[in-house]
Amino acid sequence: MSSEQRETELVTAAREVMRNSYAPYSRFRVGAALAAADGRVYLGCNVENASFPAGLCAERSAVAAAVAAGTTRFDYLVLASDGDVPTPPCGICRQVLVEFEPSLPILSVANDGRSERWTLSELLAHPFTPRDLTPA
Ligand code: THU
Repeated sequence: MSSEQRETELVTAAREVMRNSYAPYSRFRVGAALAAADGRVYLGCNVENASFPAGLCAERSAVAAAVAAGTTRFDYLVLASDGDVPTPPCGICRQVLVEFEPSLPILSVANDGRSERWTLSELLAHPFTPRDLTPA
């Protein structure tokens, strides 16, 4: 499969899982397709809560699905939202993702198909990582 085909599949998967988003409060639906080094794709969507801070982003729900399946090596993240502008991962999700792949490539697609690309290292330039916990 070509990398273009793979990307198209991931965009489709992110858009499909976005439909399962539980976002009655913000009405902003997000889907995430996280491609892992094992070749599998782990999906997530945002899950909001009446206690607003308890809500979970799509990216972190995809990471949780992958880790629960035994995978922590990630190649690529595709996001889909129903916003007008391609959404970048929020700060908390950047921090969660950097734990596993500091240079993760990210593609984000808006409702009209507009897209943007970043790397996680661009979005989180000076991250706190497991190495920072190691005594000097
Ligand atoms: N959200 C995500 O799922 N991912 C992001 O990267 C940005 C924000 C969710 C959280 C909340 O449910 C809704 O979008 C509005 O902030």
